[in-house]
Amino acid sequence: MNLKQTAIIIVISLCLGTTAQAADHWRQNDARQAVKELGSNLKKALKQAMKEGGPAKAIAVCNEKALRIADKISLERGWRIGRTSLKYRNPANAPDAWERSVLLQFARRRAAGENPANMEFSEIVKKNGRQEFRYMKAIPTAAICLKCHGRHIAPAIEDEIHKLYPDDLATGFKLGDIRGAFTITEPISTP
Ligand code: HEC
Repeated sequence: MNLKQTAIIIVISLCLGTTAQAADHWRQNDARQAVKELGSNLKKALKQAMKEGGPAKAIAVCNEKALRIADKISLERGWRIGRTSLKYRNPANAPDAWERSVLLQFARRRAAGENPANMEFSEIVKKNGRQEFRYMKAIPTAAICLKCHGRHIAPAIEDEIHKLYPDDLATGFKLGDIRGAFTITEPISTP
């Protein structure tokens, strides 16, 4: 290969690299936006339910409403979107191998002093020969969360949670701990 050919190849690969980076950047922005929407809708719904019917009513928000809000976004965009955690309440939210490694990465970053409010990670991964864009955003534990995920949970709420989730792992959290993460999987269609 002569110098000119090499130069052309370098320019082409640089251009392709930049285009891929731009696509990732906008995928990441979209994912960030969706998670923000989901997070603030959930918090709003939780606060309202707590005001109207106390934590017993709010259990349904963190449970059913979260799923419905996530489902709506998934349907609109063709993504899978959900919540996961190393210490999960619903086994259906257990992390897969990729999610688990990102949650462990978040825990290390937190231990090194990073603020969980801005913690995120994305990557393009290959699954069964297809590419997927995967994104996760840490969910910090706020004061309102402690009523159902904290160290001291009122007996009435504890009973209710225990009935619905006999194998619950999602208690003992403190303010500012990483409670879990939003997780998005977006299939990438290749031409
Ligand atoms: C009124 C009780 C209640 C409150 C308050 C509450 N949660 Fe939950 N949370 C639940 C229940 C019940 C589930 C199980 C949901 C399901 O079945 O998917 C859950 C599940 C979750 C999950 C999914 C992973 C898992 O453990 O299954 C995350 C993440 C989560 N909650 C974060 C939060 C955060 C952050 C807050 C505060 C902003 C909060 N929760 C407040 C009851 C509550």
